[in-house]
Amino acid sequence: MTDLKTLNSQFGIANHLLFETDPGGLTLVKIDNDFASASIALQGGHVMTWTPHNAEAVIWLSPAAKLAPGKSIRGGVPICWPWFGPHESQTDFPAHGFARTTPWDVVSTTQRDDGATQLVLKLATANFPAQQWPHPTTVQYVVTVGDTLEIELVSQNTGPGAITLGEALHTYFNVSDVREISVDGLDGCHYLDKVDDFTQKQQSGPVTFSSEVDRVYVNTSTDCIIRDPAMSRQIRIAKSGSNSTVVWNPWIEKANKMGDLGDNGYLKMVCVESANADENVVTLQPGEQHTLSVRYSVEQI
Ligand code: BG6
Repeated sequence: MTDLKTLNSQFGIANHLLFETDPGGLTLVKIDNDFASASIALQGGHVMTWTPHNAEAVIWLSPAAKLAPGKSIRGGVPICWPWFGPHESQTDFPAHGFARTTPWDVVSTTQRDDGATQLVLKLATANFPAQQWPHPTTVQYVVTVGDTLEIELVSQNTGPGAITLGEALHTYFNVSDVREISVDGLDGCHYLDKVDDFTQKQQSGPVTFSSEVDRVYVNTSTDCIIRDPAMSRQIRIAKSGSNSTVVWNPWIEKANKMGDLGDNGYLKMVCVESANADENVVTLQPGEQHTLSVRYSVEQI
């Protein structure tokens, strides 16, 4: 891994982008510009925070998140790739794939004329666990921090055979109290209810939360809105290249078992994940490329 001094001299941007080491040993990219601040761990390409100036955090990071080599971080934007959830046949492969715990390399950093700061990362093929993913694939991750947070996950099949990918930007959003919010944009969509034995159901109206919710909505490319009247705001999740949306809150019992959500942390977060999962996994022929992208913005209500 490249050392901090080299990273800062090659990619640091005075007053806007700095590489630091966290006490847990992870290398973090700290961004601060006219619009917002953000932090990204190179391990997992994990966006940990994005907070527009003079606003409350939009992305939720657990106060009990464990930052350590090889561990996934609770909160932020974990990257699920190249499969979503448990691996379809290998129970010993990590849930949600290996991208979220693998070190990513820095490709470039840019301070744009519009004031936004862009970071481009790539997952080196040499870092793939060959047993889990023997397919030559390039993966690039573009994070643009401004008054919106924009993320692109670009996968390209560089091998001789077709590959099939599951993926998600497993974003944890910061909310006033999950019992008081609603998620719009999924009315009428079909979903697999993971807390009811994967029964297929159909959404009616907005999604609300009064117990564990773990749903994979399929065949939906619609934007979602998290309405949070107690924070006088709504978070808009615009997406493209994504045909599934996953909505998750573990609720109290599961949260207690997880051990890294903090006291009552489950009340402060909701995951609305822009994904390609289940019947929406993506098949790429040799040379083909696919981009999953999101734009998060905050509106006052
Ligand atoms: C969600 C899944 O996307 O991620 C849930 O639908 C899962 O089933 C959750 O519990 C968290 O996963 P992990 O591996 O980060 O604990």
